Order: sequence, then structure tokens, then C-alpha cells
Amino acid sequence: MIRKTILIIVFISLALTGQAKEGMWLPVLLDKFNIGDMQQMGFKLTAEDVYSINHASMKDAVVIFGGGCTGEIISPEGLLITNHHCGFSAIQKHSSVSHDYLTEGFWAMSRQEELPNENLSVTFLKRMDDVTEAVLEGVNSELPMVKRDEIIARNIKSVVDKALKDNGYSAHVEKFYAGNQYYLFVEEVFTDVRLVGAPPSAIGKFGGDTDNWMWPRHTGDFSIFRVYAGKDNKPAGYAPDNVPFKPAYHFPISLKGVNEGDFTMVFGYPGSTAEYVPSFHLQMLINDVYPKLINVRTQKLNIIKHYMESDPAIRIQYAAKAASISNSWKRWKGEIKGLNKLDAVTRKQQSEAEFTKWVLSDDTRKRKWGNLLDEYRTTYSKYGEYSLARSYLLELIGRNSMETVALAGLYAGLVDLVERNGVDDAKVQSLVTALRKRTDSHFKDFYQPVDQKLSPVLLNSYRTEVPIVFHPAVYTEIDKKYKGDTEKFVDQLFQKTVFTNHEELMDYLMNLQKLKKLKKDPAVKLYQSISQMYHDKVMVGYRLYHDRLDSLNQIYMQALMAYEPERHFYPDANFTLRIAYGDVKGYEARDAVYYNYFSTLEGIMEKDNPDIYDYRVPERLKELYRTKDYGRYEQDGTVPVCFLATNHTTGGNSGSPVVNASGQLIGVNFDRAWEGVMSDLMFNPNQCRNISLDIRYALFIIDKFAGAGYLLDEMTLVE
Ligand code: ARG
Ligand code: GLU
Repeated sequence: MIRKTILIIVFISLALTGQAKEGMWLPVLLDKFNIGDMQQMGFKLTAEDVYSINHASMKDAVVIFGGGCTGEIISPEGLLITNHHCGFSAIQKHSSVSHDYLTEGFWAMSRQEELPNENLSVTFLKRMDDVTEAVLEGVNSELPMVKRDEIIARNIKSVVDKALKDNGYSAHVEKFYAGNQYYLFVEEVFTDVRLVGAPPSAIGKFGGDTDNWMWPRHTGDFSIFRVYAGKDNKPAGYAPDNVPFKPAYHFPISLKGVNEGDFTMVFGYPGSTAEYVPSFHLQMLINDVYPKLINVRTQKLNIIKHYMESDPAIRIQYAAKAASISNSWKRWKGEIKGLNKLDAVTRKQQSEAEFTKWVLSDDTRKRKWGNLLDEYRTTYSKYGEYSLARSYLLELIGRNSMETVALAGLYAGLVDLVERNGVDDAKVQSLVTALRKRTDSHFKDFYQPVDQKLSPVLLNSYRTEVPIVFHPAVYTEIDKKYKGDTEKFVDQLFQKTVFTNHEELMDYLMNLQKLKKLKKDPAVKLYQSISQMYHDKVMVGYRLYHDRLDSLNQIYMQALMAYEPERHFYPDANFTLRIAYGDVKGYEARDAVYYNYFSTLEGIMEKDNPDIYDYRVPERLKELYRTKDYGRYEQDGTVPVCFLATNHTTGGNSGSPVVNASGQLIGVNFDRAWEGVMSDLMFNPNQCRNISLDIRYALFIIDKFAGAGYLLDEMTLVE
């Protein structure tokens, strides 16, 4: 009875907040679960228009761009749009002092000028199939974990092998609903992807880290690429005579714009969410892991920013690193705030109490699930410790931190390999080639004082924040030899190490026989001390408890589904193709502050400030503003820039197509608003908003700002 009342209240509150929609849905299940709801909200197309394996559909124009973004095809000749921050590293790699495309922007004025990119791929989904039965064949609940995993792995392999028979595709199986369902993904991967255009960072990254995760937003976060194929329209490695790929489908682009309340759909690759975790998980993050990680990153950012502000060359070297450190740092803060505002832990605890009552009221249920929450409690108490130690160690040697030590770690790997395989081994040779590149790029973006200042701060903060059982042996040495003076220890290290010397390292790569000497280098030693703690202790415990949680999650998910048989659960994000739908809508950010749903060029001019790096508006844009040369991109005397909607999105959805009720492209997704970033853990329909670039701003920049309007000729524009 109580449960019914709660459900009714939930239902009413959803109804009151309009059409905000939680959920990242599987395109193959649209027909079954969502299409009715979507059509009621205004969507004019069918499930088959979105996803079909029988004829061309929208899914044929949505791709994985690079390693972690989404992109979409916008012309019959393989033209693709994604975010500027998704194309960033490609743009950066083509940049040098004489042609700095990050600063100036880049526009190919003909096909010949389009720039090929090493290691950039675009992945099309051919089809996805539910293969749960085949994957779980021979598995039963009595089997021990290890055995179960073994059978599943074997079954997955045979499913994949079968899918790959002579078709040139690639395939993989992913688990859904915490391992209660499995889907096969068959994909076609294109590797000749060329850069066509990118606005200057002062447009594509306007607002920088200051505006990141925030509304009001004015970032022109897009870049343009083109997919090339062999003459047979199949994937082919880069060759000058490859031809533009002819896609089965491309998105038509609407110039009509958006109004509050309009239907929107986001079609892309959300990376990861944890919506069904127990309250212990949230407590672990809110009370321990996030605050500590935020704290250490604050220290990192303070140091890096100090140096960046002192010298423009250092700013360039550390821009991407600072952006990446700052991105999660800021999101974590927002998540804590949002979860607290929602009283998320109490909510979870209340629903867990209701769930437990339901479980205990039936003997079979009691036998199956009676201990579940207790097991969660004990597992999280251990998992939390290991998880913090793991993340914190990665903050020390990964994530752009002690870079000299991290570089030393890579060389230590080479030393080991040479000892095992000898200098003439093929693996050794290819590692040497990789390290040569890696070393060059390391020093291109390295300024020693930053690293030297950062290292002792990181070592000290680990020491105070993480329990002593996880302290690497090096701390004993610091105490003994340096009387606990970490700075002195680090200064000595920097005096003696060769890992700050570019030429000397190159010399080592030329003379592999000498390599042994590196074993004595203090940076290698520090790396090994940290790495030993990481591998021999932290990861061992982390994996143990992580696996335990994995199996608890699978059982909990089953139980939750039995508890609410009428509810359509959406599976947690796992970087597979999903649909989120909702409507264009502003929100109340805080007491008395209501945010309008769109931003315009006026806001860019308001933010303009030559003294603040993130807010320098390019002269050419100011000129367009003065002359009001807006063409067909104008609305109400200005140009729209970004808009908000209620689609449930997360990291990975960057670059995703945002379409209107007719399936026409109206925007490109690139961020979420800060007050709602806890949506990875709990969705609040009043506050969770995705931020999209208005496609008209992108077209305005291409056409009016860059003078590359010829690109519009191949697009399908709907006026
Ligand atoms: N917050 C967006 C995302 O998670 C944009 C990140 C890139 N921009 C930045 N200023 N760091 O990827
Ligand atoms: N910027 C994010 C990305 O790169 C998308 C924002 C989000 O997390 O929703 O995927």
C-alpha cells in the first residue's frame, strides 16, 4: 500500500514537471517500449525510421568518433560533424607555430586540402542483436563465479566468431542490466577520416574551463570531418585516391530552430552511468572518494594554472592537460551538490527499506535476496578503501600528474622487455618506435618547474589522505634519508634523473644495450615503488571486491525487476548506441534564478573581455556582429548559439545528433548543465539538462565567419 502511494506520488511529480525524460534507451527496443510515448510528445517518425536493418535509417548516420565521442553524417558525401573538443587532438596534431589551427581555426577550401589523421577512426553500427540466450547457455545460478565467467567468455567468443564470417566487419558483445542481458554489436570501422574544418578555439572552446559544465553557455563546440572509403565504398586505410564515403543515410538539417517545449531526441554513445547502485555507493562517493579527489585536483590545478598564467608558451603546453584535469574535477563538485540537493542517499535508503520489506515478506524471495543489502554493505566497506587508493594512485602517476615519473615508467617497461626478449625482438622494436614518438610529444608539452612543484605536493597529499596500508615503500625512504622532507627528495630526484633530458633519452633509444643503466635512475625507482603498491596490493583487492560487486549487481538488478514488474528499466550506459528523448526547456538553477532555454550572439559580446583568456572574442566575429551580417541564420535580430533540453545524456554523448520531431538535425550535443550532472547516478527532471550547440550557429560560423559556405551545398538544408 505504502509502495503504491509512493509510486503514485512519483507519477504525479513526473506529470507535474512536464516531459522531462529519464532514460537512455536501446534503439532496437524503441518499438516495444518508447515509440508511443515519443509520438505522444510530438515525434512524427516511426521506430523503423530511427533504427532498421532492412532499410536506411537514422542509425546509419550516427557514429563512434575516435575513442570516446559521437559524430553524425550530414551529407551524401561522408561529411561529418562532431564537437570541437572531440576533434581537438586531431586539430592539435596538425598545428604548429607557423600554422596554428587551434588558434586560427582551419578550413579546407577544397577536397584536396582536407587533412588525413593517423589513428582516427569512425565506427558505424550495422546491427545489434539480443544474444542473451546464446551467451548464458549452460549457465545456472548454482555455478561459482569463476566457472560462470568462463562459460560466458566461451559463449561470447563463439557468438562473435559467427557474426564475423567473411563480412569485413568487427563485432563485440556487451552486457546490459548488470549482466542479465547481452547484445551483439556488428560494426564497420573506417580509418581514412580527414579534417575538413574547425573554428578557432576562441569560438570552439569559447568560455573554456570557466564556462565548462555551465549555463548560460556560448561555445561553438563543433568541428567537421569527412569519411573516406575505397572505390567499393568499403573501409580502406588512408590513400590519396580514396573517395568520399557514400552513407546509407545522412541527417537533413533544419534551419527552423527550436522553441521551448519542442520534442528533441539525442542519438549517440553515452559512456557510463550507475543508476541502480545501492545507497552505499553514493555514500562512498559523496563522503570519501569525490571530496578527496577534488581536493588533490584543486592542488594540481592551482599549480598548473599559476604557470600557465605566467607564460603563453606554457599555457599552450598545459591547456589540454588542465582542461582534462578540470573537467571531472568540476563535474564531481556538481555531482555532490546535486545529489545532496536531491537528498539522494536518504531516497535510496528509503526505497531499499521498502524493497527489504517486500523481500522479507516471502520465503522464496527471502532465500534469494534476504542478505543482498548486507552483503553490499560489507563489500562496499572494503571496496571503498581500495577504490580510493586506486583512484588516488592514478592521480599520482596517471592523469597528467608526475609526468617525469610516468615517462620513466614507460622506459622501465622497455628495460623489462629487452631483458626478456633481447634487443632484436620485433616487440622491442615497435615499443622503441612508440616511445620515440611518446618522448617527443612529452617534451613538446613539458615544463620542468611545473612537474617539480607538483610532485612533492601529490606525494604528500597521498600520504595524508590514503590509509597507511596503501603507502608505497618510498615513504620510508623519504623518512629515513630525507627526514620526511618530500620536497628535498623530489629535488634530488630531478637533479639526478635523465628523464628530464630529451636528447639523452633519444640516445638511450638508439643504444638499447645501455638501457640497463636506467634501472638505477631515481625516477624509475619511484615509479616502481608506486607501481608495486598499485599492482601487488591495490589492484588485487580492488578486483576482488569489484568482481563481488559485479555479481551482487547482477542479482540486485534481477530483484529490482521482480519488485517493479511494470516498470521499464533502461540499462545503464555502456558506450553503446542509445536514444534519449525529451523537450527543449529551461530550468530553475537555484532559488530565484530561472535559466532561459537558449543563448545568442549577444551573450558572446557580453562576455567579451580581452583580459580573460577564455573570453576573447575573435575580431571577425565582432565585425559580423557590428554589421549584423547574419543571413538566414538570424532569429529575432541575433544568431542563436546554444540551447537546453531535458534529454538524459552523459560523457560519450559529446557530438551526438540532436533532432527535432521530424528527425532533422537541430543541434549537436556537447555538455550538461552543472546543477544536473548527478544524472549519472540519479536523474532529477527539474534540473537535468543537456546542452546543445544550435546547428544554425555552426552553419553561420562555416558560412559567414570562415567563408567555407561551399560546404553547405552538399548538405540537405530544410528552411
Ligand atoms: N564538459 C564537456 C565534456 O565532458 C566538455 C569538456 C571539454 N571542455 C573543457 N573545457 N574541458 O566532455
Ligand atoms: N562533454 C561530454 C562528452 O565529451 C558530454 C557532457 C556530458 O557528460 O553529458 O562526452
